[in-house]
Amino acid sequence: MDEVKNQGSDNVKRFLKKFFIICTLLTTLLYVYHGWWRSDSYTTFGHVKNNGSLTILLWHWPFVQSYVLEGDVCWDLFHIPHCKLVDDRSYFSSADIVVFHNRELIQGRQKLPTDLLRPEGQRWAWMSLESPAHNGNLKPFANIFNMTISYRRDADVTIPYGELLPKEEETPLPEDITVNKSSLVCWVVSNYMRHHKRTQVYKELSAVVPVQVYGRWTGKPLSSSDLLPTISRCFFYLAFENSLAKDYITEKLWKNSYEAGAVPVVLGPSIQDYKAVAPPHSFIHVNEFASVRELGEYLQELAKDKKRYAEYFNWKQWWKVKLYVDWRERLCNICSQNSTLQYKKTYSDLEAWDKKV
Ligand SMILES: *[C@@H]1O[C@H](CO)[C@@H](O)[C@H](O)[C@H]1NC(C)=O
Ligand SMILES: *[C@@H]1O[C@H](CO)[C@@H](O)[C@H](O)[C@H]1NC(C)=O
Ligand SMILES: *[C@@H]1O[C@H](CO)[C@@H](O)[C@H](O)[C@H]1NC(C)=O
Ligand SMILES: *[C@@H]1O[C@H](CO)[C@@H](O)[C@H](O)[C@H]1NC(C)=O
Repeated sequence: MDEVKNQGSDNVKRFLKKFFIICTLLTTLLYVYHGWWRSDSYTTFGHVKNNGSLTILLWHWPFVQSYVLEGDVCWDLFHIPHCKLVDDRSYFSSADIVVFHNRELIQGRQKLPTDLLRPEGQRWAWMSLESPAHNGNLKPFANIFNMTISYRRDADVTIPYGELLPKEEETPLPEDITVNKSSLVCWVVSNYMRHHKRTQVYKELSAVVPVQVYGRWTGKPLSSSDLLPTISRCFFYLAFENSLAKDYITEKLWKNSYEAGAVPVVLGPSIQDYKAVAPPHSFIHVNEFASVRELGEYLQELAKDKKRYAEYFNWKQWWKVKLYVDWRERLCNICSQNSTLQYKKTYSDLEAWDKKV
């Protein structure tokens, strides 16, 4: 009897031991698989939320063209950590920030998902790199967005067309900056409009000094590979913006002028706006002169004086230009700027913000 009893309890013990081991294994597997041991990650609607990462959902791509978002794009391409960039709308319920590009919204080609319940704490961001004149009527967007993403310095996330970065090492300037220069003033214009302020300035200037004009308007379009070499042969480049708006400084300055190596003559926002982002003594602002005639005369004198002309390039010894052209990089920059963002915010009148001068 005793023997039978002992055998029985041994069986129970063995069974319990096996059961315990299997349970432990299963639990461990489950934990590892879902990553539940990390306190800051949890699953929502099938998506594993990143550990301490910000999830940015782009609702639709700007201007239709999409990019590949495989792997950890922000880290792999731009070395921006803790940033998960997605364009799959099934991430809606777990995204921290949902980004909407303005153009498609005002054209009616895309709609805001106002029928979906916005998850607690999720922020909606309005994004545009256009000047206010091209943003359309934003009155219908009152009380919807929590963030603005624009080239403007007072946007929540500023994504300029370009910026300066310090060089790791000082580089000397060329002996003679003017060796390859054959034109005094150049302008590239594809969208010529008589009512543009820039057209009026161009006309007045070309009455004083020769202005070499390229671009679609002249019937002499420049291919993108010819653009910079052509401008590099000019002493001055007319970096005239098509809209005159606060902080609206485009690749006409950063790429066409600075990268090509022509001194920009700028027409756009105020001198103060340029000074805030561009190197000192690197550009000539139209407003520095009482008249366009005086501007023309100044350019002529400067081109004759190699030493004074070269002073406009001094900054290149210490600074290099960084252009922003990839939408993925612009979006990843939301994460770099996250820590300085005001979290709780609503744009009650986006139209007024956009059209503010
Ligand atoms: C979580 O963070 C670690 C360390 O920063 C990183 O190696 C890992 O890839 C992250 N996991 C996810 C799902 O992002
Ligand atoms: C982003 O900013 C918010 C609010 O300041 C903060 O709570 C959150 O931890 C930040 N996230 C990351 C990944 O830095
Ligand atoms: C002038 O042109 C030559 C040949 O294209 C180039 O190697 C050189 O760097 C240019 N010099 C300057 C100062 O731009
Ligand atoms: C974002 O804006 C919406 C709509 O006005 C508002 O209900 C929500 O509280 C805002 N969220 C944050 C984080 O400010």
